[in-house]
Amino acid sequence: MAMTTLSSPVLALTDITKRFGDVRANQRVTWTLDAGRIYALLGENGAGKSTLMSILAGRYQPDGGEIHLRGSPVRFLSPAQALASGIGMVYQRFMLVEPLTVAENILLRRGPIRGKRTRDIRQIRELAERYGLLVNPLAPVRTLTMGERQRVEILKLLYRQAEILIFDEPTAVLTHAEIDSLFDVFRQLKEEGKTVVFITHKLEEVMAVADEIAVMRRGRMVSRVAAAQVRSHHDLARMMVGREVILSVQKPPVAIGEAVLTAMGLSGPAGADRLKFQDVDFEVRRGEIFTITGVAGNGQEQLVAALAGLAPMAAGTVSFRNRAYTAARWRRRTGDGLAYIPEDRDRTGSIDAFTLVENFMLTRLDAFGGALWVRRRRAARATAAAVRDFSIQGGGIRGLAAHLSGGNRQKLILARELSRRPDLLIAEQPTQGLDVRATEEVWQALLRQRASAAVLLVTGDLKEALTLSDRIAVMFRGRILDIVSAREAADIDRIKLLMAGLGKRE
Ligand SMILES: Nc1ncnc2c1ncn2[C@@H]1O[C@H](COP(=O)(O)OP(=O)(O)OP(=O)(O)O)[C@@H](O)[C@H]1O
Ligand SMILES: [Mg+2]
Repeated sequence: MAMTTLSSPVLALTDITKRFGDVRANQRVTWTLDAGRIYALLGENGAGKSTLMSILAGRYQPDGGEIHLRGSPVRFLSPAQALASGIGMVYQRFMLVEPLTVAENILLRRGPIRGKRTRDIRQIRELAERYGLLVNPLAPVRTLTMGERQRVEILKLLYRQAEILIFDEPTAVLTHAEIDSLFDVFRQLKEEGKTVVFITHKLEEVMAVADEIAVMRRGRMVSRVAAAQVRSHHDLARMMVGREVILSVQKPPVAIGEAVLTAMGLSGPAGADRLKFQDVDFEVRRGEIFTITGVAGNGQEQLVAALAGLAPMAAGTVSFRNRAYTAARWRRRTGDGLAYIPEDRDRTGSIDAFTLVENFMLTRLDAFGGALWVRRRRAARATAAAVRDFSIQGGGIRGLAAHLSGGNRQKLILARELSRRPDLLIAEQPTQGLDVRATEEVWQALLRQRASAAVLLVTGDLKEALTLSDRIAVMFRGRILDIVSAREAADIDRIKLLMAGLGKRE
């Protein structure tokens, strides 16, 4: 098989084991990696992927097992030690210091940067150019997009001459075009004889760029195959979940009811130099999933933030449950009926230092009325139900949100918002970072929700939009170009054209 090469592996893991309390995150994982190859690491949410990679990168120490680097045993007590040996990792949640500049972040922990500064910055520029990782070294990190921040993380590793580069779900925060350029970077690293490992839930990404595929399930490495031998997405899905995954859902017919939300002439955000969305009109009716799609960066993010009340609108009116609000009043609206699943679940969705129950109470205080202990008991019951219904794996309902795997954290927020029984549910990229099984579960849940509520789905994932939506609005440069009822193949082509700003009906 193509997988075995004559040269010895650059990295060999033998029987790596890691426990967190009662959770066995990694169980006797054995894996070898060669130079000049791209590896995709797959597995369900909570399978132990991030843990295994964090061990390689020196963030965690294994409870058992050995790591050999170029034939010699190694033990990393910190990420700095791993990096000094040439192993670096870009985490699911970036580790940049926001107020500092790009260059300061890259040069961090290398002593004072005065004096050598111009030479260092020139070096960073050269590196950025060589890999097509375009970013201004003097820009403060807090002004950068997620895509640019990721480039800084990669530059940090390349600057320190990493030979083995590990990426934890790197594409989750990127646009389609950014994903293509990231894969170009992967290929270039491979050409130079470096080793790339990336974690993903998107099977098409695996097929696009990986040489080898490794699949984890419940802490174990369950299969390894050459990418060339995989015939279909279904093969991969089955390996991950251990059963057939259909990846499609039944969409039961539901009677369409009254308009729950009507947006008229919305523009915003207020106070910005440039409007990010403009003259937006649409309505979402009970019984339907109304989807807003578009290439990231065309105003969807700002529109949702405004609708969710996180940012002020400049103009327009919103009518919600038969009450009309001006742009200014909408944000100060009180009362319930609206649930929101934010895209940025780390910042607006959950709090690390809180237990699952406490996180569950965050947006539901009203629902758990009474004395504090009564509330806590009710919340504990609701949380336990959510954990069961969405198979949220982690340290139990009294465990900290910080200890949940990325996907399980998302499922917790989803479960909480769905359990509020809202009239309107705004779901922003609800399956980002979820494995195939969880994606299927969330799709089912959203379809169930539509029986009793209006659902506003915001997604850049066309398959998701087409699977779930009753109507799809395509945004381009801040405006809704058209609203399409996605039933036929011709509609799909139209949506793609609209996403590129073409094909607007006159
Ligand atoms: N610091 C921690 N403390 C306690 N438990 C943890 C910690 N980190 C991870 N775990 C647990 O270990 C298991 C594996 O988690 P890990 O983050 O490695 O999964 P993953 O495969 O990366 O999942 P995802 O696809 O959801 O990101 C999970 O059950 C998780 O709850
Ligand atoms: Mg993970």
